Amino acid sequence: MDVMTAVMSRRSARTLIEPAPSDEEFGYLLRAAATAPDHGRIRPWRWVLVRGEGRTALGRCFADGSPAPATQRYRTESKAHRAPLLATLVFTPAAGHRVPEWEQLAATSAMTSSLMLLLHARGFGSIWRTGKFTESADVGSLLGLSGDERLLGWLYIGTAEGPQPVRRRLPDDVSDRVSVFTPEPALA
Ligand SMILES: Cc1cc2nc3c(=O)[nH]c(=O)nc-3n(C[C@H](O)[C@H](O)[C@H](O)COP(=O)(O)O)c2cc1C
Repeated sequence: MDVMTAVMSRRSARTLIEPAPSDEEFGYLLRAAATAPDHGRIRPWRWVLVRGEGRTALGRCFADGSPAPATQRYRTESKAHRAPLLATLVFTPAAGHRVPEWEQLAATSAMTSSLMLLLHARGFGSIWRTGKFTESADVGSLLGLSGDERLLGWLYIGTAEGPQPVRRRLPDDVSDRVSVFTPEPALA
């Protein structure tokens, strides 16, 4: 799949089933995604892969921290089961580095976007989800985050359910987001 086709045909997939990439395949795709622009080559991120029993534990943690009534506990728990693989994106900024933190966050986002495209080109579906649980100390602790790390959400990864029509997007008109700088003529 060429890059333009990958970009124009990728859609976030909300219902994801097996198969998901194995740990090895995820690592293979991540090595490629990690070539995204990264000022200083800091790699200020890491991934924690959650599958199987891990999803059950994560779902329990979601529900334990949810203000929703007990009758909705199952619904909250099931959020962790919306895909066979939940790849947790952890931002690990290098403190005091000459590259400011916002650039490190931008590099993390660039890597994640590349990874989603690579997953798509490989036949896998994904969706980036965040939500209030990214702020939960209990969820962070369960997944082994340390003090200055930040949870940027999960890539829910698997295979989109059912036959997938080719839904190539029509690009939006973004011409109003571009201007051409024209300097004032220099005074004689
Ligand atoms: C940082 C980030 C966080 C997001 N969090 C959520 C989320 O919590 N729930 C959700 O439904 N979509 C979320 N989205 C949006 C979806 O990932 C997706 O981009 C959106 O549904 C549009 O679909 P598309 O990727 O096919 O254009 C998030 C996107 C980004 C970039």
